[in-house]
Amino acid sequence: MKVCVIGTGYVGLVTGVCLSHIGHHVICVDNNEEKVKLMKSGQSPIFEPGLSGLMKNCSASGLLEFSSDLAAGVKHGEILFIAVGTPALPTGESDTRYVEAVAKGIGSHLDENYKVIVNKSTVPIGSGDWVKMIVLDGVKERQQTGDSCDLENKIIANFDVVSNPEFLREGAAVFDTFNPDRIVLGSNSEKAIALMQQLYQPLVERTFGDNPSLPPVPVVVTDLNSAEMIKYAANAFLATKISFINEVANICDRVGADVIQVAEGIGLDSRIGSKFLQAGLGWGGSCFPKDVSALIHTADDYNYETELLKSAVNVNKRQRFIIIEKLQNELKILKGKVVGLLGLTFKPDTDDMRDAPSLNIIKELNRLGAKVKAYDPIISSQTGMSQALSDVIIETNPEMLADGCDALILVTDWQQFLKLDYPKMGKLMNNCLIIDGRNFLDKQSLQKAGFRYVGIGH
Ligand code: NAD
Ligand code: UGA
Repeated sequence: MKVCVIGTGYVGLVTGVCLSHIGHHVICVDNNEEKVKLMKSGQSPIFEPGLSGLMKNCSASGLLEFSSDLAAGVKHGEILFIAVGTPALPTGESDTRYVEAVAKGIGSHLDENYKVIVNKSTVPIGSGDWVKMIVLDGVKERQQTGDSCDLENKIIANFDVVSNPEFLREGAAVFDTFNPDRIVLGSNSEKAIALMQQLYQPLVERTFGDNPSLPPVPVVVTDLNSAEMIKYAANAFLATKISFINEVANICDRVGADVIQVAEGIGLDSRIGSKFLQAGLGWGGSCFPKDVSALIHTADDYNYETELLKSAVNVNKRQRFIIIEKLQNELKILKGKVVGLLGLTFKPDTDDMRDAPSLNIIKELNRLGAKVKAYDPIISSQTGMSQALSDVIIETNPEMLADGCDALILVTDWQQFLKLDYPKMGKLMNNCLIIDGRNFLDKQSLQKAGFRYVGIGH
């Protein structure tokens, strides 16, 4: 099928590449010329395991193209994905201006051929109908600039909007796209749903997944509002689950229980499940924080006070600073101390720094007068974000990080950090203290290497 994906970030690029890999002809459109140039040259603008290789193969097969020309993309695609960002405004609401610009742009380039416009961006509940309205605004603006009224009528009758929320995780985005737990399709148009089912058939039948022996992927067909709500409810549930285990971890710290064993003990109950019960310094990233805030905001708009979600957010805010409390317990005065952060990104296997807990920790340590250094396998001093990272010295290897430190804090659970030469690092430190913000490292072997180990409820 002919597909156009507008927005080539973590979601759009992965979606475009994976859809072309399963045989569709995809044009990925972005208004960032630099990005388009990079992608045309065969390079991925983001770090995502497995993406670059797949991108090169698909481009070579001729089924994947990149462009900054929205008109050409709209003309090409029978299915048009909107996959631009929806960051949080300072009020917590979702900033839908990029979606609006794309919807209007689509409207101004629609032709008489039937198109399905797919909201893949995470958008506030009710956005499906709103996108339809904006697309029609785009059509009307074109009419004012001279196109015929007849064309407008044809276009009005000739597109439908589908909500197809995305559930991929950064760092596992390619795997998740080929092996989804479910596909959600929301629309009131049977024709649009049928085309979307045709698009996803190879994934549903698992012809291209890593688990061909599994049963077909469940497809949830519903209305627009419910599909949009499914996305927010899923993220809000997962974020609340993490805040729950973090609260349990904080109680464990006080009563002398071990949250890792507690999580195992409760996770074996199939009604609870073992995933997303890893206690630590809290959730971050480009999605959980903004999506939970947006849902709280939507509820506020409809006069509903979301007590549980607000508590999940508050627990999470406090959790990022629990690290500092633990550091103060161990070192007392932080002024003049040197603290080394292992990891900066909000989770491993990504270069994404959006709402990373490390940023709060750096700011607070600086405020308290400590000197902060960091080592991350993917973030270097050349990486963007220079403003946010201006108060941290980024070292190029773990030994240089450890040198002269009064404490190390494990912030991101990168696999590489399991295999560092901790005995050697310990010898370079002023004081052998490690705060494991993800309960990730081997407590016993660190203690054997002479470290004082402090976990979160562990
Ligand atoms: P992103 O910021 O990484 O990428 C957005 C892209 O859209 C950028 O490349 C930008 O240049 C482009 N863009 C902006 N305006 C444009 C325009 N007018 N025309 C063409 N391109 C334009 O965003 P992302 O992380 O991929 O997220 C996209 C959406 O998907 C968001 O709504 C997000 O909530 C949702 N989502 C993200 C993830 C994730 O893991 N990142 C997972 C599920 C859902
Ligand atoms: C999350 C969801 O998992 C995806 O399903 C969703 O599509 C995506 O948000 C989105 O809407 O954008 P992502 O943010 O990439 O994906 O990463 P997660 O693996 O969910 O981790 C989010 C945060 O929670 C990270 O900071 C991670 O360290 C933290 N986390 C995760 C924990 O503290 N404990 C856990 O047990 C799991």
